[in-house]
Amino acid sequence: MILPIYVYGSEVLRETAADVDVAGLDKEQLRKYIDDMFETMYHADGVGLAAPQVGDGRRILVVDGRDVTDVYPELKDFKRAMVNPVVVEESEETAEYSEGCLSVPDIHCNVVRPKKMTVRYLDADLKEVEETLDGFACRMVQHEMDHLDGHLFVDRVAPIRRKMIAAKLHNIAKGKARTAYKTKLER
Ligand code: NI
Repeated sequence: MILPIYVYGSEVLRETAADVDVAGLDKEQLRKYIDDMFETMYHADGVGLAAPQVGDGRRILVVDGRDVTDVYPELKDFKRAMVNPVVVEESEETAEYSEGCLSVPDIHCNVVRPKKMTVRYLDADLKEVEETLDGFACRMVQHEMDHLDGHLFVDRVAPIRRKMIAAKLHNIAKGKARTAYKTKLER
């Protein structure tokens, strides 16, 4: 099922998402929900999606880099669903990549973040996984984890660039964004 994507200006994108209560969780339902998140993301031509972007304040994210292997060949097997992800360790070394977001249509900006991190999470079968990510794989997950804390990539761009995109952001928050996918704006 394709879900509408909440855009910039929506309250849910600014809230801190809550841990998924795995004890009382229907595994089948979770798997189905994660499939819906992937379907929504593919439909919108994205490479990552976090639950708050579909109006759900739980700590769940999905990423799939297999579509951008022409630019990042190392992503050929990089498809993940993460429940309750936490950063175990991050590098001091940073990297700069251009980011975009389905909740912030038509805006791309360079963002500096730690180049590597080790992340611990539960996969779609609720199995605990710990892995170290580098390069663009790391970046995709960092961007999605930001969503779980109510942060958007545009919060992290240089002030001068932020000024340049202010009018565009204002338009999105006014509901004037044009997208090929279904969006929602809810304050
Ligand atoms: Ni995003």
